[in-house]
Amino acid sequence: MKTLSALLLLGIFLYGCSDSNGNKTIEEMNQPYRPQYHFSPKTGWMNDPNGMVYYAGQYHVFYQHHPASTVWGPMHWGHAVSKDLIHWEHKPIAIYPDSLGMIFSGSAVLDKMNSSGLGTVNNPPLVAMFTYHNMPGEQSGRNDYQTQGIAFSLDSGSTWTKYSGNPVIRNPGIRDFRDPKLSWWAEGSAWIVTLAVKDHIEFYGSNDLINWTKLSEFGQNIGNHGGVWECPDLFKIKDNEGVEQWVLLVSINPGAPKGGSGTQYFIGDFKSGSFIAHDTITRWIDQGADNYAGVTWSNIPESDGRRIFIGWMSNWNYANVVPTDPWRSALTLPRELSLLKNNDDWLLKSKPVNELETIIGTRSLFTGETSLKTQHPLIEFENQSGEFEFILSNDLNEFISVKVEQGVINIDRSHSGKIDFHEKFGQVHRTDLKDIKLNRVAVYLDLSSMELFINDGALVMTELFFPNRPFNKIKFKNSAQRFSVAPIKSIWGNVNQ
Ligand code: FRU
Repeated sequence: MKTLSALLLLGIFLYGCSDSNGNKTIEEMNQPYRPQYHFSPKTGWMNDPNGMVYYAGQYHVFYQHHPASTVWGPMHWGHAVSKDLIHWEHKPIAIYPDSLGMIFSGSAVLDKMNSSGLGTVNNPPLVAMFTYHNMPGEQSGRNDYQTQGIAFSLDSGSTWTKYSGNPVIRNPGIRDFRDPKLSWWAEGSAWIVTLAVKDHIEFYGSNDLINWTKLSEFGQNIGNHGGVWECPDLFKIKDNEGVEQWVLLVSINPGAPKGGSGTQYFIGDFKSGSFIAHDTITRWIDQGADNYAGVTWSNIPESDGRRIFIGWMSNWNYANVVPTDPWRSALTLPRELSLLKNNDDWLLKSKPVNELETIIGTRSLFTGETSLKTQHPLIEFENQSGEFEFILSNDLNEFISVKVEQGVINIDRSHSGKIDFHEKFGQVHRTDLKDIKLNRVAVYLDLSSMELFINDGALVMTELFFPNRPFNKIKFKNSAQRFSVAPIKSIWGNVNQ
């Protein structure tokens, strides 16, 4: 009997330690503050998501990774795959630094017609383009230390070979010359690279992903210029009237509305190799402090048709010192983008992908307040009054409050627990609602993050927090406010979180 229960216990233990891929996950993904339904590396440092491409039933995410430390350093491309955008499998490092430099941010596409000649038509290559950052070059005072290189995969993204003729885009003598985003430009029957060049964007074109010609520049006199332009993306999307528009995402650091890092966007046309914005308004994809360097997946099947975005859930102001170990940083939820035209104004909405519903449990209804039984719930409510306030708190009286008053939303994390790791962390973040009329609110909480979606993503705020004990209570100022709470399942198989 004793042996039987011992065996049973061992079985439960072993089952609990492995996922269906045989990866040990539970202990590795179960530390304080470890996101339970957002992607994070098992160990080491992560920043920007890179090379997102869908191929052969898998969504790939690569990411800026320093495997040997929890602070930024020599960049590699870490790698993970998912069949549903929700459950991620950690993979070995995909691209290592070499004598040309560290591997900075970039993108990946499927070269279906084998235009590069790096594969065959029967086995077309995935081609990634990234920035080589040559540290000795930078340290010796040169300006041309960033160049663009490519690598290809002939086994559906598992392993990558660097092209022997790298770099494929040389540096014209500009210090910030990076973050290539590849896309197929159907109208011009050419590949396009959208590149961040200091204070503007440059577009390059190619027939074969190897030989590139500069097409045009955009942005010197438009948009926010409080910092360096980084991590752009260019894509086409239909607006709500069914008209195709071009969207250009440009991350910037510093200079964002909440300080440090943020992502602005422009709506316009892409004609004859040039981007022309419809207007000169600066718009932001996320009004919170912690969504940076986000770009979208390539090669999503037409039958799906979505434009899916993911960002780095941090901010260069404090990313290197947030109190997590043995990893640093997570990605945002994958978000589906949609474009709304309102008179002559534009709004790029983002909402969590529908796949997330598969891990959301039963919604229970409450009024006014309740204790939270899970550390990673979804909280939803409706409010047409134009004002609300709720407080998430723990037994130590640490709290984060979210308040809408007189057309302004405030998220206050000045009493949210650990804040003194950086002077810019414990602040109140205010955003003007402009002409958004409050209606539906959804709050996705994880162990150290909140993603707030107002009116299905018309306004989004992503914010980190690090309480000394988990927030275990939500209380609305209006005791008659009705709301629902649903548990979100851990994607790492942790049951006690
Ligand atoms: C953005 C960024 C990119 C660069 C990478 C380096 O966060 O600064 O411009 O390629 O990070 O890790």
